[in-house]
Amino acid sequence: MRRWLTLLVAATTSLVLIALMVPLALLVRTVAVSGAVSEAESEAESVAVAVGAVDAETLRLTTEQTSHPVTVFLSDGRLIGAPAPRSTAVELAFLGRSVTAAAPGGREILVSVQGAPGGTAVVRVFLDDDRLTRGVPQVWAGLAALGLALVGLGVLVGDRLARAVIRPITALAGVSHRLAAGDLSARTVPDGPVEVHAVGIALNHLAERITGLLAEERESAADLSHRLRTPLTGLRLEAESLTDPEESARIEARVDALERAVTSVINEARRRVRDRAECDAAAVTAARVAFWSVLAEDQARHFTLDLAPGPLPVAVPADELAACVDALLGNVFAHTPEGVSFSVRLEPAEGGVLLTVADAGPGFATSDPLQRGESGAGSTGLGLDIARRTAESAGGSLSLRTSAAGGAGVILFLPAATS
Ligand SMILES: Nc1ncnc2c1ncn2[C@@H]1O[C@H](COP(=O)(O)OP(=O)(O)OP(=O)(O)O)[C@@H](O)[C@H]1O
Ligand SMILES: [Mg+2]
Repeated sequence: MRRWLTLLVAATTSLVLIALMVPLALLVRTVAVSGAVSEAESEAESVAVAVGAVDAETLRLTTEQTSHPVTVFLSDGRLIGAPAPRSTAVELAFLGRSVTAAAPGGREILVSVQGAPGGTAVVRVFLDDDRLTRGVPQVWAGLAALGLALVGLGVLVGDRLARAVIRPITALAGVSHRLAAGDLSARTVPDGPVEVHAVGIALNHLAERITGLLAEERESAADLSHRLRTPLTGLRLEAESLTDPEESARIEARVDALERAVTSVINEARRRVRDRAECDAAAVTAARVAFWSVLAEDQARHFTLDLAPGPLPVAVPADELAACVDALLGNVFAHTPEGVSFSVRLEPAEGGVLLTVADAGPGFATSDPLQRGESGAGSTGLGLDIARRTAESAGGSLSLRTSAAGGAGVILFLPAATS
């Protein structure tokens, strides 16, 4: 835009200057020509006075003292002064008309001298082209230089103006990018021309509105999660009323875990700013696999855990990584029959760690298991997408494979924590 505005100013200034300078240059030339012609005419007049008043020799001397080549044509055909052709214009002057006519290389100024002894004579003063336009090229060069200087000045002023407009627009773009990247604290200081100033105010208003809407969304997510507490209380009462104390304790422990999960969901939903915490992937994976191992035992599932020696710090908060591992292991338990084996592998990779969860089940049934909301088993279809988004928000990735045993394989790349 800056270049565009500068070009616009240059074009406008040039047009205005051309419109002014061309007529001015022509006028300068005309004035120079008419000045030279009138100077030559007065010289011709002064010689004309001498014709008839002095003898031929004195007349010749007079013509030699002039600043232009002067020729006197006498009626008897004699010629005094600089040699010159007897042109048609000279013949016309003999008829009694003083004329100015174009001649090869310049102009001839012809003054008819009537009543001279011996008949009409004609005084011819020759003005060559150089004398006609003397000083004109220098004036033209001056005008051109002035014109260029004015265009340069115009471009400079245009560039300054363009910068004054573009700076606040660039700042607006920067704030928009920061908002798009999730920095909701980004605000601009409205600046620049009225319209850009108005856009700045509107952008700040939009940012405030987005922040408000997100806060409302978080609160409503927390409210929704809170609704789980009622059926949980009912479940706890049911567990307490069980006659088998061992079974009652086991179910109560599960209810406790579920309650803790609900509480952490509510807290997570209400958290204003997501802290970019880190965690030890080895410790979190080991803890989650230990949790699922009880159910694996119940379902007669054989599993292998291949953990590289920790700590393996990754740029993902512990509860989010735990939710990822739970989503992947939960899928094994939800989408493969009981007794199907699985493996969990955590190993360091370039720039982070790789977490692989694979099983020997039937593999992915749907063409795009990562499609959020699409479930091949009538569930909510969120698990894999949650894991993918957690990885991607930290700069990692999730990919799906067929495992060595022919079942489903999910590989999660988590970037290493920087601090
Ligand atoms: N280990 C697996 N074996 C076979 N299919 C799987 C496996 N993991 C995922 N899938 C398939 O991918 C789909 C998407 O999985 P995802 O975890 O995103 O959703 P879901 O498990 O259906 O629902 P949710 O996790 O929200 O309860 C599943 O519906 C299932 O068809
Ligand atoms: Mg799932």
